[in-house]
Amino acid sequence: MGLSHLTSFIITTLAAASSVSAAATTASKSVKCSTGQITSNAACCAIFPMVDKIQKDLFDGGECGEEAHSALRLSFHDAIGFSIHGKKGGGADGSILVFNSTELKYHANGGIDDITARQFPVFQELNLTAGDFVHLAAAIGTANCPGAPRLKFMFGRPPPKAPAPDLTVPEPTDSVTAILARFADAGFSAKEAIALLSSHTVAAADVVDTTIPGTPFDSTVGTFDTQVFLEVLLKGSLFPGNGSQPGEVLSPLHGELRLQSDFELSRDPRTACFWQAMINNQQYMMSQFHDAMAKMQVLGQDTSRLIDCSDVVPVPKPFNQNIKYPASFSKKDVQVALPFPNLATVRGPAPTIAPV
Ligand code: HEM
Ligand SMILES: *[C@@H]1O[C@H](CO)[C@@H](O)[C@H](O)[C@H]1NC(C)=O
Ligand SMILES: *[C@@H]1O[C@H](CO)[C@@H](O)[C@H](O)[C@H]1NC(C)=O
Ligand SMILES: *[C@@H]1O[C@H](CO)[C@@H](O)[C@H](O)[C@H]1NC(C)=O
Repeated sequence: MGLSHLTSFIITTLAAASSVSAAATTASKSVKCSTGQITSNAACCAIFPMVDKIQKDLFDGGECGEEAHSALRLSFHDAIGFSIHGKKGGGADGSILVFNSTELKYHANGGIDDITARQFPVFQELNLTAGDFVHLAAAIGTANCPGAPRLKFMFGRPPPKAPAPDLTVPEPTDSVTAILARFADAGFSAKEAIALLSSHTVAAADVVDTTIPGTPFDSTVGTFDTQVFLEVLLKGSLFPGNGSQPGEVLSPLHGELRLQSDFELSRDPRTACFWQAMINNQQYMMSQFHDAMAKMQVLGQDTSRLIDCSDVVPVPKPFNQNIKYPASFSKKDVQVALPFPNLATVRGPAPTIAPV
């Protein structure tokens, strides 16, 4: 154990020993809730029935559909309203839900009104703060997607104080420099930014090209696999809708939309290696995404006052297969020169991806 590790070990141990809060004293034991579930803290018991209600009322009984995708996007747009230098919002505080009349006017929040409108009545029926609600819903929605990691859920955020200001959410028209600067301002490295972008494996666009709502970013939009990292590197040849729109670049497949930001991040020397490392590396992607989301979902929060209620988050179905090139594609269509895993190709003619 090196000196710095030893020092931090001692500090952590002392901190744990001296904080005799209710959270710390019950955390080591497991508790059986009256509803039957096992959890590490009795305070989490009240959340299990809320998870059932959110699954039923928001996610059609547990699907990885549009609401699940949008709940994940919403958690980002809420949390990224934050700066380590201050004055850019309260982070993962639910302000986007409570102050929706302000935050939804921001250009980068285009299309977000669908999910806040769906979430608001469910939020009002539950005894959760807006921050806890938004970030619990994102963890549950993500868990509905096979292949996703089981995200953490920290409980106890206070109500949001004010809306986040404009221009905290990156846009697909932004340069890599601007995107990485914004992530760094919120406390994220370039590697963590790419880890968070794993979310675009369960994503579709409604407003980039309004003539083709629900157009996915990869060919497996209902699975939390690494397919998006592969498909963004394929040579583009077409626009799926009404020609070229702002923030959109050529896509390799009919029915698939490629964001300019994903394209540039996948090829930029500052991020290309992180991007490629995800391809067909399911366990690695899951752990990177899990850790970056754990950080994102408590941005701006006093974590010493939160209780770890991750036990309430459903366990996602696994995805254990190798990913494949979409039909008619192979290594020759990949636009990068670096070493690349050998992958099979789906049989048949080039697909047209169906909207979500
Ligand atoms: C460089 C940063 C990012 C940019 C520029 C970006 C941009 C976009 C855009 C333009 C859309 C489509 C919106 C529409 O037309 O409806 C989208 C969708 C989405 N984004 Fe991002 N995004 C970024 C990072 C993230 C992060 C960090 C997350 C989550 C951790 C995320 C999650 C999603 C999801 C899940 C969707 C799909 C929503 C749905 O299908 O309803 N994005 N993103
Ligand atoms: C915005 O918040 C109000 C309450 O302030 C709520 O009634 C409404 O449904 C919300 N709308 C959207 C689009 O989120
Ligand atoms: C609502 O939640 C708070 C904080 O978790 C808790 O103290 C309170 O007992 C709850 N109220 C009801 C009516 O469940
Ligand atoms: C198609 O795109 C063009 C140029 O971006 C735009 O002016 C036009 O309004 C769009 N058509 C429709 C039907 O949205």
